[in-house]
Amino acid sequence: METRGFQSVLRTIESKIGIQCANYKQDYLQRRIQSRMRMNKTDSYAEYNSQLISSTTEQEALRNALTINVTKFWRDPEVFELIKREVLPEIKRRKQKIRIWSAGCATGEEPYTLALMCHEARVLFPDVQMTIFASDIDKEALKKAEEGIYHRKALVNLSESQIRRHFDGQKDGTYKVKQHLKDLVKFSRHDLMSGRAVTQYLDIILCRNVTIYFTEKQKDELARIFAPALAEGGYYVMGKTEYMGRDVEHLYDPFNPIQKIYLKKKK
Ligand SMILES: C[S@@+](CC[C@H](N)C(=O)[O-])C[C@H]1O[C@@H](n2cnc3c(N)ncnc32)[C@H](O)[C@@H]1O
Repeated sequence: METRGFQSVLRTIESKIGIQCANYKQDYLQRRIQSRMRMNKTDSYAEYNSQLISSTTEQEALRNALTINVTKFWRDPEVFELIKREVLPEIKRRKQKIRIWSAGCATGEEPYTLALMCHEARVLFPDVQMTIFASDIDKEALKKAEEGIYHRKALVNLSESQIRRHFDGQKDGTYKVKQHLKDLVKFSRHDLMSGRAVTQYLDIILCRNVTIYFTEKQKDELARIFAPALAEGGYYVMGKTEYMGRDVEHLYDPFNPIQKIYLKKKK
């Protein structure tokens, strides 16, 4: 009975929230839904499903719970250091235009970290044009990302001079990303389950801390979608706790497996 109730909640999620549940891990969905059920003091899936159908507020709350947006500036600094020190200079030796995709960008800290890095690298490579495509399924997270307003504590990993150069302090104590960084980032809503990449001819795809909630099949599917979206010599950067599936590892060569950076396999 409860299985049926659970399946109806999944159907409501698909129809009302627009998230394709089949591609997410079942226990992950259960944990998230049950946590919302506890908040609503409901202990049956059927009852929760009725609440979900009738309340747009609950749809919003469950959507937030399912698309956990935890992120930060300079998350895993060693990865960004490697991109700055080895990956960008290597691409720059071959190209005048560098295209990067932050897939599952949440509230924008990852693409703005990349923008900041690219901006600082521009001093070294003034002739190179850099574009960062940033996408997420979550409209609210994207809205925050586009606004680019952060609390002081979100900027702890940035130096004082980086904060001064790249953010405007606001009257209410928050900090707004300056236009020169915003100009480097193009945000869009995109579902990674849609079977297509946001664009092609990419030099780097970062898809970090997103697939932890996906089934193995869906994780592999993403690696298959990313490979043709990368230009020759393009890099795929995964999250530190994520790993390349056996069925798709033939598509990539390890570049720095500890930092989870892979190179598209040469033809
Ligand atoms: C934990 S955040 C990761 C943010 C950033 N990449 C980082 O590593 O700090 C995971 C993000 O993946 C997004 N996400 C989950 N499922 C998605 C999907 N099917 N398509 C696009 N984004 C998705 C969530 O909305 C959330 O913002």
